[in-house]
Amino acid sequence: MTTLKGKDILDGAQFTRDELEQIMAVADDFRGQLEKKRGLDLLKGYVLAAIFFESSTRTRLSFETAMHRLGGAVIGFSSAESTSVAKGETLADTIRMVDQYADVIAMRHPRIGSAREAAEMAVAPVLNGGDGAGQHPTQALLDLYTIRRERGSLEGATIALCGDLKNGRTVHSGAEIYKHYGCRLICVAPAALQMPDEVVARLRGFGVTVELTSSLEEALPQADVLYMTRIQKERFADPAEYERLKDSYILTREMVERLRPDVTVLHPLPRVNEIATDVDALANAAYFRQAGNGVFVRMALLALVLGVV
Ligand code: NCD
Repeated sequence: MTTLKGKDILDGAQFTRDELEQIMAVADDFRGQLEKKRGLDLLKGYVLAAIFFESSTRTRLSFETAMHRLGGAVIGFSSAESTSVAKGETLADTIRMVDQYADVIAMRHPRIGSAREAAEMAVAPVLNGGDGAGQHPTQALLDLYTIRRERGSLEGATIALCGDLKNGRTVHSGAEIYKHYGCRLICVAPAALQMPDEVVARLRGFGVTVELTSSLEEALPQADVLYMTRIQKERFADPAEYERLKDSYILTREMVERLRPDVTVLHPLPRVNEIATDVDALANAAYFRQAGNGVFVRMALLALVLGVV
């Protein structure tokens, strides 16, 4: 039996298949329990620090909801401006301190590698809620959970990842997780925003079939799952480049119905323009259910790293 007790959750590549299965099973168990009862008391007396140096809606609120549903307490902040970072405090010093207040830390920060730096400082497990254009493993886990719930299995599925694959941290983590399930990946992006070469090379080294294209029309008919992403405006140094690329892909209901009516459509959200709102009513548009699943998966992660399940 694997154990995640005391472990940090930093990137998508860290998991074994057994660990993934364990997280999925615990998340499912919590979902079942919450259907009968609004909350549990497994983490009564424990404190989560949710420290978000960069904007967030779902990740922060679902971490907080997860902790509350488990009977624990939450401290934290949702922007660096309201903290001593505004006075010049370093991340290392902030973490040293938060580590003394809390049993577990969920953090988001604009710098790649920041979660790993924090994990090196902190005794408490650190859960990476997004480090710049790096990784976002807890999102990728809830994406995995959603695909299984929507489709039963992802064994051998073709997953099309579409949008800003260069800067999108959820797909960086996701690709590392899908590789355990024999999935074929189609990376759909303009050349300037394609999946980083080193990620593609690593996946291929692992035996994953990875195809690269800029055409959503070409990829969609082959896809069991279409994972749309936002063009990550905040990561562009040149606003003109963002303007040029921002509407690279817009998925419409007509496209789904014509090209792949049974595709499962996911999106980590927030959506800007890349999925027309007329897609929302399709039974296989799963992105709002996906956001809801974040609570069960984050409950599982909190309970596992704190060693109470
Ligand atoms: C994503 C993120 O922050 O990376 N959002 C999320 O956590 N659900 C995706 C995005 O911002 O585009």
